[in-house]
Amino acid sequence: MSIIEKAAVKLEAEGKHKVKPVAPDFSVGSGTEPGGGIDNPKNETRRGVAAGPAIASKRITLNLTNMRQYGIVTPDEGRTQIAEQFRVIKRPLLTNAFNKGPGMIKNGNLIMVTSALAGEGKSFCTVNLAMSIAMEMDRTVLLVDADVARPTLPKILGLGTEKGLLDILLEENLDLADVLIKTDIEKLTLLTAGRRHSHSTELLASQSMADLLKELAQRYADRVVIFDSPPLLLTSEARVLASQMGQIVLVVEAETTSQEAVKETLRQIESCDVVNLIYNKTRSFSGGEYYGYYYHESA
Ligand SMILES: Nc1ncnc2c1ncn2[C@@H]1O[C@H](COP(=O)(O)OP(=O)(O)O)[C@@H](O)[C@H]1O
Ligand SMILES: [Mg+2]
Repeated sequence: MSIIEKAAVKLEAEGKHKVKPVAPDFSVGSGTEPGGGIDNPKNETRRGVAAGPAIASKRITLNLTNMRQYGIVTPDEGRTQIAEQFRVIKRPLLTNAFNKGPGMIKNGNLIMVTSALAGEGKSFCTVNLAMSIAMEMDRTVLLVDADVARPTLPKILGLGTEKGLLDILLEENLDLADVLIKTDIEKLTLLTAGRRHSHSTELLASQSMADLLKELAQRYADRVVIFDSPPLLLTSEARVLASQMGQIVLVVEAETTSQEAVKETLRQIESCDVVNLIYNKTRSFSGGEYYGYYYHESA
């Protein structure tokens, strides 16, 4: 069966699950700050085949100037407000990701950042979260650009045209280690979106993708895999991805995203049990930045 046929079968079989928003909601104001880390993809292979050691073959130096222009906190900056906000935001995500006790979340270390529409701050939040988690002592981060139609990570991080996610799904002989990119932040590794493809939704829904995600989730006990994604209400790719994630971070743009859009988005991600909200681009009450923190338990 071809990869596309397999994808069609999987799409048909896809069922609905209950929604159980568990984690907190947060607010993020406008601003900038630092991040950093090593990745150690010891014996990474795809499709769950435990072959010998395979190390990411490429390494890049992140373009800190580009990153700062995009509002990303870089490791050379001091203690900024945005850095503090992402410190707070990442904590429950990490708790969920590595909880091995009661209430353990399946594939909790697979975290997708999404939103209803374009421009709400998905990529901003994804990269800032990844940078913040990469600063943890005992965690590594794989940052995946799953916005396959309009990849932004190359622009933010200063990457060239690299093979990535869709190429692994398309090319049987391409190994994950061939496309992973190590960075000068030790604990941060990248996987770009790869070559554009007209059947990207089917590829993301394919058995190869499911196998890849399983491997990413299980092979490295200390790793968080964080996915930048397309807007949920404008694409079908995001929905397909959402159904395979352990946790979702839903970015809502303050004073812009309508209540209806948020409600519809929440309906679309019902398949994921853990939904975290970030209220992004908030403005201050009195000139300064506003920061809020809310918590709601699972339904
Ligand atoms: N909290 C924020 N503070 C400052 N700038 C932000 C914030 N969130 C997003 N931006 C900016 O808004 C623009 C759109 O954000 P982006 O992450 O690319 O949106 P999306 O990925 O949802 O399309 C970018 O220029 C980004 O730098
Ligand atoms: Mg984006």
